[in-house]
Amino acid sequence: QTNQQWGGRFTESTDAFVQAFTASVSFDRRMYRQDIAGSLAHATMLHEAGVLSAADHAAIVQGLEAIRDEIERGEFDWSVALEDVHMNIEARLTARIGDAGKRLHTGRSRNDQVATDIRLYLRDAIDAILAELRRLQGGLVDLAEREADTIMPGFTHLQVAQPVTFGHHLLAWFEQLKRDSGRLRDCRARLNLCPLGAAALAGTTYPIDRQRSAELLGFSGPTENSLDSVSDRDFAIELCAAGALLMTHLSRFSEELVLWASAQFGFVDIPDRFCTGSSIMPQKKNPDVPELVRGKAGRVNGHLVALLTLMKGQPLAYNKDNQEDKEPLFDTVDTLLGSLRAFADMVPALRARPERMRAAARQGFATATDLADYLVRKGVAFRDAHEIVGKAVRLGVDSGRDLAEMTLDELRGFSAVIEADVFACLTLEGSVAARDHYGATAPAQVRAAVARARAWLATD
Ligand code: ARG
Repeated sequence: QTNQQWGGRFTESTDAFVQAFTASVSFDRRMYRQDIAGSLAHATMLHEAGVLSAADHAAIVQGLEAIRDEIERGEFDWSVALEDVHMNIEARLTARIGDAGKRLHTGRSRNDQVATDIRLYLRDAIDAILAELRRLQGGLVDLAEREADTIMPGFTHLQVAQPVTFGHHLLAWFEQLKRDSGRLRDCRARLNLCPLGAAALAGTTYPIDRQRSAELLGFSGPTENSLDSVSDRDFAIELCAAGALLMTHLSRFSEELVLWASAQFGFVDIPDRFCTGSSIMPQKKNPDVPELVRGKAGRVNGHLVALLTLMKGQPLAYNKDNQEDKEPLFDTVDTLLGSLRAFADMVPALRARPERMRAAARQGFATATDLADYLVRKGVAFRDAHEIVGKAVRLGVDSGRDLAEMTLDELRGFSAVIEADVFACLTLEGSVAARDHYGATAPAQVRAAVARARAWLATD
């Protein structure tokens, strides 16, 4: 017995291994809801165009809705012999409603059908990803507000550079995520076009209304060119590219949390419920959530490369290669949703350890630049001031003291312009408060940035 979907042309049935090898139902069945929505819209458009009778249309609508219920109740019998989600549902429809089911595929191909399904699926996925992203961003803004005055060392080259406020550091992460959100929304807007009607590749001979199909599915319009419609997977690549960059950000964030949660830094405490222990070392509390997210960034990068490589050699229009788009894409969506959820849950629970942050800033001569700026205000040229402060730091290193711990006489030994007012600019508070302009680290500026971030979240 030959395959029921295309048996007419064939003289023998598909090899059993080939059947399993070419099937995609094990993974594309997750698009069942989008597949049914696409079929409902197609059937309604066909009926309105006079291609499908009212009776057939009614039977198809009722049949597809019943099938959706069957799937959701876990009663649907998925068959590898029927290859993919599209043919499984269509075969079931015909089994349920008879000949009307066989008319559904009029003026349609699996090529435009699958392109539609993926776009619908990604549209929903992007909305879910954006919701988790917002939750994480909201958590960062709340924490930034609470930690607007908390002083920590800022780093370059992972060496203590200048003091910053913890709130300012948290808002740097917020900005990264804001760009990610913009990229995802761009991707959503560009993919929101309907390929239905492109059929296999050239369009169809029926008097279809592509605008109507698009409208019924909430697309902003039909895709322009039928060949492009069935061969384009740019939207999948764009999602993976935006996802890879988002995961790169979460990975950098993770790296800092892992460092900061170590005994050597001790800047933050990650609550136990986000950590795990060791099966051998009783003392261990490991920051598994950020470590795992840092690791998962690698798989999304891999999916992006997989999709780019999948597409690069394909001639127009549809090729079976495209079936390979789904697993990387679905795994990208799952990885993004899981990683964002873990972070959105964890960030509000992070506890800062300000005394550890202060101690680290003190040890690192974080206010050396402030002393140089002080000398400049007293008339010394910046390059000379740099040299003078360098010598003072040398003394501090040798004698194990911070600049603020030196006596006025000691400091005056490096430059006679130094007076008692110098100590005000050597404090950590004085240093951060002095960086008081748009985008800088002063607590007042952090509060202003928090307000802008909240406004962005409100209109987003
Ligand atoms: N399962 C296929 C895919 O994922 C559906 C389209 C198949 N079309 C075809 N002519 N073989 O792309």
